[in-house]
Amino acid sequence: MTLDPHAFLSKLEERISLTSEDKAILNSYADWGREIAPEMAVSFYAYLGSDPEMNAILNSTEERIHRLRDTFIEWFSEMFTGIDHWGKSYAERRWRIGLIHVRVGIGPQHVVPAMAAVVCEVRKRLKADEKPEALQEALSRICMIDLAFIEQAYIEVSEAAVLKETGWTESLFKRLIASGAA
Ligand code: HEM
Repeated sequence: MTLDPHAFLSKLEERISLTSEDKAILNSYADWGREIAPEMAVSFYAYLGSDPEMNAILNSTEERIHRLRDTFIEWFSEMFTGIDHWGKSYAERRWRIGLIHVRVGIGPQHVVPAMAAVVCEVRKRLKADEKPEALQEALSRICMIDLAFIEQAYIEVSEAAVLKETGWTESLFKRLIASGAA
């Protein structure tokens, strides 16, 4: 895989227009983010658990759901701090989260609606707590960046696996996909 997580993060920040003002407002609400994270985790896993396929994945081992609750809280809080202010560590952490989902067999059809559920739940909470609209916009942007990481991991891993197994070149692989889509 050739993806450089930090370069990918920079590209996404530009594409999504995550500005230094967005980062500043996220940082200034880091305590609030940490405070509501456990509640967000509860609604997130209730949402995933309501889908039979996702529920089966979540409960495939006894301890998984507990581990996930903690990792979700950490992930949610990190959106406010940017870990190292959205530097190399943030990018590598997001890339690793993407790879883990690919390994567990969770595809775009699961992740996209799940992130939409997060954005929707956060929006409700922002409204209830009368937080500024700028915070909502910044949070939506960072959620989309994190989503792009998970989605990109899926395609990067699939492509790398096919190229390794078949010896095809990248351009042949891309041509086959394009002609398959036609
Ligand atoms: C908004 C989208 C999502 C976010 C932000 C998210 C967040 C995370 C994080 C932070 C981890 C831990 C990664 C690590 O160990 O380093 C993780 C792992 C995992 N997630 Fe997600 N997730 C999302 C969507 C989903 C969906 C839709 C499912 C479907 C069931 C899912 C199931 C799992 C599983 C099974 C693991 C591995 C758990 C283990 O350690 O055994 N996630 N997720």
